[in-house]
Amino acid sequence: MPAIAATFRLDQATRFYRAPMGKKVAMAVSGLVLFGFVVGHMLGNLQIYLGRARINAYAHSLREIPVLLWGIRALLFVCVVVHIISAVQLTALKMEARPTRYARHEPVVSSYASRTMMWSGPILLAFIIYHLLHLTFGTVHPNFIELDVFDNVINGFRVVPASIAYIIGMVALGLHLRHGIWSMFQSVGISHPRYTPWLKAFATVMTAIIVVGNISIPVSVMAGFIHE
Ligand code: HEM
Repeated sequence: MPAIAATFRLDQATRFYRAPMGKKVAMAVSGLVLFGFVVGHMLGNLQIYLGRARINAYAHSLREIPVLLWGIRALLFVCVVVHIISAVQLTALKMEARPTRYARHEPVVSSYASRTMMWSGPILLAFIIYHLLHLTFGTVHPNFIELDVFDNVINGFRVVPASIAYIIGMVALGLHLRHGIWSMFQSVGISHPRYTPWLKAFATVMTAIIVVGNISIPVSVMAGFIHE
């Protein structure tokens, strides 16, 4: 009996996802989880200003409950996959709805915001892959020390091209977040004209905090403000 109920729920979820609205909701929910991670991750990273002991203790504490750590990693991975698949499918649906034979040569085929999402998304994905190889696995890091986050960040950002790559990644993150947060509200139905200016202001302020907070770290290392 529970197996039948589970199959039924899976079937309902699949049917919901097949509709364009389902894809939008999947994108919004996965985006919300990823946004939550980005905020939490930035707050964790900013502890570098409190010194080596503090940030390294934070990194150790994350590993104290392996089930939780791996659960969060798995959730993030699923959210990234769902976010990308729903984005690709929604873009394909939009293109299908606009057959080229009807389109005159118009310079503005899609909105500025959706075009921004199309290039900021892939840059962000490339950034995440580079970032994991740099500060999590250490593969592309000049002097990686397992679990010494403080040293890894300082030595990592002393390499100027690496810092520039992070700054470019954060600019892409900013453009992606500003539009993403706003469309997330619309996808879940929070888009009353009365709240529009507030929601847009929220998206802009949150984005600015995240971008400035994150960029401050490579800049502070390069400027010698944080050092060993
Ligand atoms: C300047 C900005 C950033 C800094 C200094 C930074 C720093 C770090 C460090 C030190 C780690 C390794 C942590 C550890 O081993 O305990 C890490 C892991 C990670 N970072 Fe970042 N990060 C930044 C921005 C971002 C952004 C914008 C994203 C996502 C869009 C991101 C996603 C991740 C992920 C997914 C991990 C792996 C977490 C895990 O171990 O499961 N980071 N970051």
